[in-house]
Amino acid sequence: MNEAISRAATLLSEADAILISAGAGMSVDSGLPDFRGPEGFWKAYPKLANSGLRFEEMANPASFLRAPALAWAFYGHRLERYRNTEPHSGYTRLLNLIGKKTGSGFVVTSNVDGAFEKSGFPDSQIYEIHGSIHRLQCCRPCTDAIWPATEVNVEIEQESFRALGELPACPRCGSLARPNILLFSDGTWIARRSEAQGRRFSQWLANVERSGMRMVIIEIGAGTAVPSIRRLSEDMSLRFSAPLIRINPAESQCELTGSVSLSMGGQDALKRVI
Ligand SMILES: NC(=O)c1ccc[n+]([C@@H]2O[C@H](COP(=O)([O-])OP(=O)(O)OC[C@H]3O[C@@H](n4cnc5c(N)ncnc54)[C@H](O)[C@@H]3O)[C@@H](O)[C@H]2O)c1
Ligand SMILES: [Zn+2]
Repeated sequence: MNEAISRAATLLSEADAILISAGAGMSVDSGLPDFRGPEGFWKAYPKLANSGLRFEEMANPASFLRAPALAWAFYGHRLERYRNTEPHSGYTRLLNLIGKKTGSGFVVTSNVDGAFEKSGFPDSQIYEIHGSIHRLQCCRPCTDAIWPATEVNVEIEQESFRALGELPACPRCGSLARPNILLFSDGTWIARRSEAQGRRFSQWLANVERSGMRMVIIEIGAGTAVPSIRRLSEDMSLRFSAPLIRINPAESQCELTGSVSLSMGGQDALKRVI
């Protein structure tokens, strides 16, 4: 392990540009749960264990239509929890690291908790592939508007785990509002904001390539159940011949040549390699 740590540290110190990719595991050391399998999800939301609802069923546009007070209890609770959580020290280490690089860095994450933005990463260097819980959209949707969730404060009846009172609504048509997050079986997600971030990411990549900069990819806490982030890290590694450092205490395996696997928690690993 010590050898892998020093290899990762050397790669990061010699790189000109850093691609940071992160899944739910990145936020675990800040005290936020990931949703690994139905058991993990029910452990995080014991109230939902009784209902037998899985994460895929809860995080679904159909649940906003069928059971809006339940859907908003889940998202209102998550929003509150993510708002009140201080990102762990690994975020600041990464921010300082990219600050020293000629080609700076870019964050690509499936997390919706807004932790990178809260840690001071510029909005222009973040690509939230599944959107953000801190933004809302219309459930219908009547337009492609996306607005901040700053005014949302959902009161929850604990026993039944249902949102009380008026639920967040679309200011244009009055229909129910929902988080601007890509849900499962989602045909109504407004991807405009995320797509604009994706275009900035492509521009950054093109610049790194044009300037012949050495890019290193550091991936933290990306699971195999929803493998979007793992795939992206691997695709980028192949396309740019960029070494991939994969940090994950349970599934750090990586077949790519030149990659480094660190079977450790995110915060601890970042402390050792930066
Ligand atoms: N904080 C959030 O925004 C949040 C939380 C839960 C789920 N989600 C979303 O749900 C979907 C499924 O997410 P996923 O596949 O990333 O999550 P997952 O829950 O399936 O997997 C999380 C991964 O993190 C790893 N992990 C656990 N503890 C860790 C630690 N201390 N340090 C580093 N890694 C650790 C696990 O081994 C696992 O591989 C994604 O879209 C994800 O972004 C987001
Ligand atoms: Zn509307």
